[in-house]
Amino acid sequence: MELMIFETPAAVADEGARRIRHLLHARPDAVLGLATGSTPLTMYERLVRDCRQKRISFAAVTTFNLDEYVGLDGDHPQSYRHYMNEHFFSKIDIDLANTHLPVAAAGANPLRIGAEYETKIAAAGGIDLQVLGIGRNGHIGFNEPTSSLGSRTRVKTLTRETLASNRRFFPAHGKQAELAITMGIATIMEARKVLLLATGEEKAAAVEQLIEGPVSAMWPATTLQYHGNVTVLLDAAAASRLKNRDYYDWVQQQQQKLVQQFDAD
Ligand code: F6R
Repeated sequence: MELMIFETPAAVADEGARRIRHLLHARPDAVLGLATGSTPLTMYERLVRDCRQKRISFAAVTTFNLDEYVGLDGDHPQSYRHYMNEHFFSKIDIDLANTHLPVAAAGANPLRIGAEYETKIAAAGGIDLQVLGIGRNGHIGFNEPTSSLGSRTRVKTLTRETLASNRRFFPAHGKQAELAITMGIATIMEARKVLLLATGEEKAAAVEQLIEGPVSAMWPATTLQYHGNVTVLLDAAAASRLKNRDYYDWVQQQQQKLVQQFDAD
């Protein structure tokens, strides 16, 4: 697991955007797995800027989002489709037909969507790079604690903690969606590369488990310890509970030296 610790959330966003630019330069038709939530917003802003400045293009890119609330269709303001369109897709040169979320709009059978979504990901050739945030309870996507480490895309019941944390996105008296369809942990593990961003002290306990804890379904993100190509980008607050911080900083310095010497890109 590659770990980079920055002072600020802005620096995390810069590095995340740099990684995606790098991928798109090498592979303009990459398949990206995307996340919603507050963490990746600044990174998306950076990518919008890069696209407007013609430093990158999403014209040939295909995307698959991690998750979507059950029963919300794309024009619902709290749907993740709406979030993605508003914050990212409408501001870049992507073809909306190539953007996918596991949508089970009102009336559709949510139990069927998971397998269909997996088929679409496979037909696109799999995910080259999966962007992840992390929940305070260690969830990735909406794979809440005790999710099977072998799970595939399916309906998940959100924990009360996740519902409380996401309550801020729903109107004060509006009904909040309680079920989501999420890529499974095994689905995420099949991405060729994973880029996880975490900022803020409220993520410090989950980050501690992710980096230094034992692999456990109680902290689903810990499964990433088995993935061969994960980069974790943290700000200082999210890294504040790590016990071996000195070592990680030293590794980062060594890595930078190697890159400067052999791979300036
Ligand atoms: C979002 C997602 C979630 C979030 C996580 C962190 O698509 O799947 O796992 O990444 O809940 O959310 P924020 O970034 O709002 O703290």
